[in-house]
Amino acid sequence: MMLAPINRNRLKIFSLLLFLFVLSFIWHHESITTGVSKNLQNLICKENSTQNATVNKSSIPAEKDVQDTVVLIWKWPWGYQSPLHTCPDYGIFGCKLTVNRSLYSVANAVLIHHADIMYDKKSLPQDPKPHFQYWIWFNLEPPRIISNLKMLDNLFNMTMTFRRDSDIYEPYGWMEPLKKRGQNFTIPNKSKLVSWVVSKWYSGAPRIAYYEELKKHINIDVYGAKHKKLSMNDFYNTISQYKFYLAFENSVYKDYITEKLWSNAFGSWAVPVVLGTSRKNYERFVPGDAFIHVDDFSSPKELAAYLLELDKDEEKYRKYFNWRLQYRVMLNRGLSYAYCNVCKIVRESPVYHVIHSVEKWFLEDV
Ligand SMILES: *[C@@H]1O[C@H](CO)[C@@H](O)[C@H](O)[C@H]1NC(C)=O
Ligand SMILES: *[C@@H]1O[C@H](CO)[C@@H](O)[C@H](O)[C@H]1NC(C)=O
Ligand SMILES: *[C@@H]1O[C@H](CO)[C@@H](O)[C@H](O)[C@H]1NC(C)=O
Ligand SMILES: *[C@@H]1O[C@H](CO)[C@@H](O)[C@H](O)[C@H]1NC(C)=O
Ligand SMILES: *[C@@H]1O[C@H](CO)[C@@H](O)[C@H](O)[C@H]1NC(C)=O
Ligand SMILES: *[C@@H]1O[C@H](CO)[C@@H](O)[C@H](O)[C@H]1NC(C)=O
Ligand SMILES: *[C@@H]1O[C@H](CO)[C@@H](O)[C@H](O)[C@H]1NC(C)=O
Repeated sequence: MMLAPINRNRLKIFSLLLFLFVLSFIWHHESITTGVSKNLQNLICKENSTQNATVNKSSIPAEKDVQDTVVLIWKWPWGYQSPLHTCPDYGIFGCKLTVNRSLYSVANAVLIHHADIMYDKKSLPQDPKPHFQYWIWFNLEPPRIISNLKMLDNLFNMTMTFRRDSDIYEPYGWMEPLKKRGQNFTIPNKSKLVSWVVSKWYSGAPRIAYYEELKKHINIDVYGAKHKKLSMNDFYNTISQYKFYLAFENSVYKDYITEKLWSNAFGSWAVPVVLGTSRKNYERFVPGDAFIHVDDFSSPKELAAYLLELDKDEEKYRKYFNWRLQYRVMLNRGLSYAYCNVCKIVRESPVYHVIHSVEKWFLEDV
């Protein structure tokens, strides 16, 4: 059996701890009963001492105590802090997640969120990189939003993005087959036609041009910063009154399907009209009869005509909900889970893994 460096390291630590453990047995007989699991709990709780860890000590395999995989979160993504002791809640044990850079030299993985380091190469770790350590490139934005990928050359070992061919796949949402074919569902009453919620108005983006043309042929209610106000509390109640929702992505890019579809449209039971990656690409993730794609029509005018036709044909409109008998929508489980998942995947990964050019992969291999 080949031992990965990661495992050899653990083995060394394990032997050392075993030795100390035996010593402490000889010196303090009573410490046997509490020593190791306390140790583990300390590791898990250290990050947030105000919260008690929800660890059921007896359900953790004893050998995990000394085999912690250390994941260093280099910077809080977008400055957003999240609890770091939740892995046991997801059935993932033996992880130490930390933001304490003193642990850099022992970290099995360093998770680096691109938008937080992209303007300054010096904001990457500067100390020598331990031979066993993975650097993980974390990014949830399409190319048009980010920059300076070149500076990542020959530094990284894994990718964590919304692209399915990432080493660690981090989608905005996905569909899960229902175990039992679903019950009858009720489509919310619809009194309005088309809505769109847009927060960032990138004037050059394809979706703006498409909207400008589409609105000449069909009435569209636009909500967002520069338009009708809509609070988060009212979001689903409001949008569910519309038959259609424009789930227009800000970029046309492989696998880039965001909460605009998963949460805004499906969450409010409005039939999504999507603009973004190709229909074929959407259909890798979503049943083909769950959405309308702008590419299905030769012009915005034709799309408008189709939406008006569906508005008059209840039976045909309802067909866009049939998938709900077989699937349910799942939303991204959040950063706390993502970090635990990193730990799990790093542990299962091959010893040596190199990404010579993140730039080439993200900009060219699409
Ligand atoms: C600890 O967790 C609580 C609740 O999740 C949070 O409000 C608090 O900011 C956290 N403290 C630190 C130091 O992360
Ligand atoms: C943690 O557990 C202790 C002892 O069970 C309890 O007194 C305390 O209130 C708990 N703290 C929190 C934040 O749940
Ligand atoms: C802890 O886990 C053990 C073994 O899995 C189980 O028997 C016990 O009921 C659990 N205790 C609690 C408080 O969940
Ligand atoms: C970071 O880790 C080091 C080494 O384990 C420790 O001495 C230090 O107190 C930690 N810092 C914080 C803020 O937890
Ligand atoms: C759903 O309701 C329709 C009409 O009320 C009925 O014919 C059909 O059998 C129901 N299907 C299921 C799966 O309950
Ligand atoms: C939809 O409208 C009908 C008739 O106006 C009404 O009876 C029903 O309760 C409404 N359903 C919902 C979910 O609001
Ligand atoms: C990580 O990748 C870099 C180059 O991208 C390489 O030099 C290093 O050896 C790799 N480390 C591991 C553990 O694969």
